[in-house]
Amino acid sequence: MGTAVPHHIAIVMDGNGRWATKRYLPRVAGHKKGVDALRACLRHCGERGVKVLTVFAFSSENWNRPPEEVSGLMELLVLALGREVPDLNAEGVRIRFVGDRSALSDKVRAGLLQAEAATAANTRVLFNVCFNYGGRWDIAQAAQQLAARGEAITEQSLDRAMALAYCADPDLLIRTGGEKRISNFLLWQAAYSELYFSDKLWPEFDEAALDEAIADYASRERRFGRTSEQLASSDKKAA
Ligand code: IPE
Ligand code: IPE
Ligand code: MG
Repeated sequence: MGTAVPHHIAIVMDGNGRWATKRYLPRVAGHKKGVDALRACLRHCGERGVKVLTVFAFSSENWNRPPEEVSGLMELLVLALGREVPDLNAEGVRIRFVGDRSALSDKVRAGLLQAEAATAANTRVLFNVCFNYGGRWDIAQAAQQLAARGEAITEQSLDRAMALAYCADPDLLIRTGGEKRISNFLLWQAAYSELYFSDKLWPEFDEAALDEAIADYASRERRFGRTSEQLASSDKKAA
């Protein structure tokens, strides 16, 4: 049985667009509401003792959306960062951005750097925001680093070159919005994550919904390739 509270939760925050469309609102209104849900979720993670929260905010493929939605998401990111950084500091949250920054505008890049620098000393919760991130991009950039250094490609060397090498792999991976797919999120790091799918649209995924996911996680048996019997006997030895 896993520990009751996951150390690291990763979330595919899906369903903002549908939330807005159902209300005859523009899709960007759904993304705005999604930021509020994320704020509450991050706070709740801190209260529950989750040490790392990693969210999928913009995928490598999301550039294919209508230009006004893409620019709306970029603006929203800059706005939200400007507004939230003081509160993140007050809550002991360190924010880090994960993804390919080369395609982002100077303004967005500066916003990311500023938020990272302003929260760099915080240690209570680590908050990774995957932005212009793709699991395939991550594996490719790791392999490119090793090739450039002339290093041998092994599981261990690749693992050390992955974008999230500074934290443990996610214990629990949640996707809201009803779809049951990974959409190029943490392909490498989710190898042994427990998966949890919620039909709730992301703006509706509140503290109670997160608690349900954590409770579900607590009931799972994480075997990492071993058998139940082996786990039971190693539990006995540890006790
Ligand atoms: C997820 O919500 C947020 C981003 C991709 C930025 P969507 O915008 O994908 O919402 P749906 O899936 O269209 O409802
Ligand atoms: C995944 O959601 C990306 C983010 C949540 C940022 P999408 O809505 O882009 O995924 P697909 O296209 O439905 O697979
Ligand atoms: Mg979607």
